[in-house]
Amino acid sequence: MAAVSVSSRVFVLALALLAAVTCRGCLAAALSTKYYDKTCPAVQSVVRSAMARAVAADPRAGASVLRLFFHDCFVNGCDASVLLDDDVSSQFTGEKGASPNLNSLRGFEVVDAVKAAVEASCKATVSCADVLALASRDAVALLGGPKWNVKLGRKDARTASQAAANTNLPGPGSSLASLVASFAAKGLSARDMTALSGAHTVGRARCVTFRGRVNGGDADAVNATFAAQLRQACPASGGADGSLAPLDAETPDAFDNGYFRELAQRRGLLHSDQELFNGGSQDALVRKYAGNGAAFASDFAKAMVRMGSLAPAVGTPLEVRLNCRRPN
Ligand code: HEM
Ligand SMILES: *[C@@H]1O[C@H](CO)[C@@H](O)[C@H](O)[C@H]1NC(C)=O
Repeated sequence: MAAVSVSSRVFVLALALLAAVTCRGCLAAALSTKYYDKTCPAVQSVVRSAMARAVAADPRAGASVLRLFFHDCFVNGCDASVLLDDDVSSQFTGEKGASPNLNSLRGFEVVDAVKAAVEASCKATVSCADVLALASRDAVALLGGPKWNVKLGRKDARTASQAAANTNLPGPGSSLASLVASFAAKGLSARDMTALSGAHTVGRARCVTFRGRVNGGDADAVNATFAAQLRQACPASGGADGSLAPLDAETPDAFDNGYFRELAQRRGLLHSDQELFNGGSQDALVRKYAGNGAAFASDFAKAMVRMGSLAPAVGTPLEVRLNCRRPN
C-alpha cells in the first residue's frame, strides 16, 4: 500500500514537472476570468473598493496606474516586473530607472495599497500582475470609461530588465511609423495602437516631454492658441521641466473621446499624439473616435484585453509575489 502511494506520488510529481516544462509558454492561453473564483472570490470587489478610494482622493492616480500596466506589459509581458525596486543584492537593476520611467512613473503606492487589501482577504494567492490588470480596468471605469472582463492567472517575474524597458517603450518624440512598429513588435495592430493611445484622455505630462512641441520645435503643426497657453508654464528655457499639463485639455480627468477631438484640432500635447492625426494612416480612425465615443470605448476595451495578454518569455522564473516591490 505504502509502496503504491509513494510510486503514485512520484508519478504525479513527474506529470506535474512535465506540465511545468511543456506549459511554460502557454501562460497567455491559461488566462481565465474565473481564475480566482474558488481561491479568492472577493478579489474583484476588494480591488474595486481600493481603487475607488485612490481615485476619489486623486483622479490622476487612476491615470498613473493605467500607465503602469502599459509599461509592465510592454516589457517582457504583464508580469509586474515594472513594480520591482532595484534588487538589494544587485541581482538586477529594475525598470523604474529606465529613461521612459525615471521621475515619471507614479502610482506605486496605490498598487501597494490595493495589493495589501487583497492580501488581507486572500493570502499569497493573487499575483501583482493580476492586481495591476484589475486595478487598471477599474481605474478606467471609475474615470467614466468602458468596463471589460479581465482575464486572470498571470504570475509575477522574479527579475526585471532596465535595458528591455529602454528599448521596448515608445518615447514622446516617436514618429507614426515607429509607434506602429513598436506595437507591431508586441503583436498589436495600428488600430490597437491608436485606440490604446486614447488612454491619454486622462493624466498629465511634464513640460520636458512637450517643450519642443509648444516652443516652435515640432514639424507637426500645433494649434497656435494651445501652444501659446502651454508656453506660459513651459517656456523654451528656464527650468520648468516638471510643470504639468493635461494630455487631454478638453476633459483632463474624464475617460472619454475628448483626446481624439483635441488631436483633430491639432491640440495633441505630445509629438507622438499628434502623429496619429497628421495626414497619415490613422487620421480616419482618429476622426471616427472623435465623433463616436462608443466606437472608441469598444475598441479600447478589446485592445486592453489583447495588451493584457502579453506573456513573459518562455523560461522567465515566475511566482505570486507577496510584496509587489521585491521577489519573495
Ligand atoms: C503610443 C505610445 C505612447 C507614448 C509615446 C506615450 C508617452 C507618454 C508620455 C511621454 C507621458 C508623460 C510622462 C511624463 O511626463 O512623466 C505619458 C503619460 C501617460 N500615458 Fe502614455 N504613451 C504612449 C501610450 C500609452 C498607452 C498605450 C497607455 C495606456 C494604455 C498610456 C497611458 C498613459 C497615461 C494614463 C499617462 C498619464 C500618467 C499620469 O498622469 O501619471 N500611454 N505617456
Ligand atoms: C485651435 O484651438 C481652438 C480652441 O482652442 C479651436 O477653436 C480652433 O479651431 C483650433 N484650430 C485649428 C486649426 O484646429
